[in-house]
Amino acid sequence: MTFPSLLVVLFLMPLAQQAAPAPAAPAGDPAKGRVLWLETEHVECRECHGVKAEGAFGPDLAGRRLTRAQFLYAVRKPWGAMPAYPASQISDRELIDLMAYFDTLQTVEQPGPWRREVPPGAPRGLAVATTAGCVQCHHPAFNNGRAVMGAVNADFQWFMSMVYAQTTAYPPVRTALGEPPYARMAMGNFNPTRVTEPMLRDVWDYLKDLGFRARMRGELSAGQPTKDGVVYQLNVRNTGLVGTGLTAEDMTILLAVPTGTTVVSATGAGYEGVRPDAQLKADAAVWKVAKMGPGERQSYSLTLSKAGTATDNVRGTLRWMKPVVKTGPSDSEVIPPAPLGTAPAH
Ligand code: HEC
Ligand code: HEC
Repeated sequence: MTFPSLLVVLFLMPLAQQAAPAPAAPAGDPAKGRVLWLETEHVECRECHGVKAEGAFGPDLAGRRLTRAQFLYAVRKPWGAMPAYPASQISDRELIDLMAYFDTLQTVEQPGPWRREVPPGAPRGLAVATTAGCVQCHHPAFNNGRAVMGAVNADFQWFMSMVYAQTTAYPPVRTALGEPPYARMAMGNFNPTRVTEPMLRDVWDYLKDLGFRARMRGELSAGQPTKDGVVYQLNVRNTGLVGTGLTAEDMTILLAVPTGTTVVSATGAGYEGVRPDAQLKADAAVWKVAKMGPGERQSYSLTLSKAGTATDNVRGTLRWMKPVVKTGPSDSEVIPPAPLGTAPAH
């Protein structure tokens, strides 16, 4: 640069700074922010901040017009009860889109209520899990959590790692359980100075007392039309870690028969026939299984006179008496309805 042009630059610089401050970071996209907030799996900020960002366990974010720096800092280095979300879970770009979306929303007069309050007479661990924010997302009895704990035979160290280092400690657990990884972890990493080890000890004691669960899955395939009727395949498996997880004992498998259809035949060990079931509010095909340990799977089939419908398709439940849990006389897991359409021939 020649001397005179340098002078010109020096002279112009303050003016240029006034006219166009810092190469402005691109503005957020409110439409993208909206999709992220409302429709993206595992972006569960809304469980704490409210679906309309109106505030709940966490403060209202609608129309708040926080600065970009304040917003990013609040998510990356939360100072209180909020878990931290590193960029691997939600990028700066995505947070800026969220901000832009919140800026399109009206501020609220008064923040909304918590999703779940501490129930009267709650055991200590449940009270802690509520005030620490856990049950804004988790079922108050941590039904899924206790099944994962039973599947890996969790100890307190493992439990702490899930809370303080969820984003790195949980993905290997998913892999070990044979589940596809999540694109992001909804939970974030809690700060041990805010959700302290003694608090977690209370939550842990509460969950142990309710009882760790066998992690059972029942999966139906779409109906396959044959000359005898429509055949539904059911796969039942214990997804616990082999040699480590809990065994389900004294198990009953029930498949609700859609109204207006009849059972033509059934296969699989332990078939007992059809009987009305109060919980399923339907006639159910029933199988009895003495026990199913981690890694074990069994196949069953049910042939119906005709296919179920979108509103009334074959579905069911797995019930087992052991391990004993305090959430009911038996433990259970839902078998989701069979998918519609026909199964691919094989
Ligand atoms: C467990 C409940 C919880 C979850 C989940 C949560 N937050 Fe928060 N959030 C809070 C609480 C509580 C605060 C108040 C500050 C604190 O306690 O750290 C807060 C504060 C904030 C603030 C600062 C608000 C202010 O007034 O300064 C922002 C921004 C924010 N959260 C965004 C998010 C985003 C984005 C997500 C999801 C990636 C998220 N939060 C997930 C509870 C939560
Ligand atoms: C923003 C929602 C959210 C909050 C708040 C939250 N969790 Fe989670 N937590 C999750 C999700 C999502 C998973 C992943 C498992 C899943 O998808 O079912 C998870 C996983 C876990 C696991 C591993 C076992 C399992 O459930 O798969 C434990 C243990 C756990 N959370 C405990 C806690 C505790 C204790 C707190 C409170 C200090 C807490 N969580 C707060 C959403 C949350």
